[in-house]
Amino acid sequence: MDDLYNATKIAFASEFSFYLKAHNFHWNVEGSDFHEYHLLFGEIYEEVYGSIDEFAEKIRGVGTYVPASFTRFNMLSQVADETHVIPKDQMVLELLNDNEKMVKILKMAYDIAEAHGEHGFSNFLAERMDAHRKHGWMLRASTKGQ
Ligand SMILES: [Fe+2]
Repeated sequence: MDDLYNATKIAFASEFSFYLKAHNFHWNVEGSDFHEYHLLFGEIYEEVYGSIDEFAEKIRGVGTYVPASFTRFNMLSQVADETHVIPKDQMVLELLNDNEKMVKILKMAYDIAEAHGEHGFSNFLAERMDAHRKHGWMLRASTKGQ
């Protein structure tokens, strides 16, 4: 089960980092179409944040502990922090890139959960992949014409 524990901890830490980045951009975005992007990032962070508690409890359910500190997140997350306030178009591209990474990380955890016959967990991971595909669509659609 160690492979499942590792993959899900990485996916969880990355998901939390992704959530934080979307919230960061919701707060710090600027420009003439501020409101539109404030809402776009808002919709994304709220959906992802809404999945965090269930994600953590699913990890507990398969029998391991949940990483839940900035130090552990920093050790495990594959979604890099954004420490600068970047222009709006860059925010969209960066989150889109992180979103694609999230789909891959979730897919990896999904495959491992399936291999262990953990179908309840893999269903949850498949739902997270679907949610990220929708975020990807919204982010990609808003880069059109740039
Ligand atoms: Fe807000």
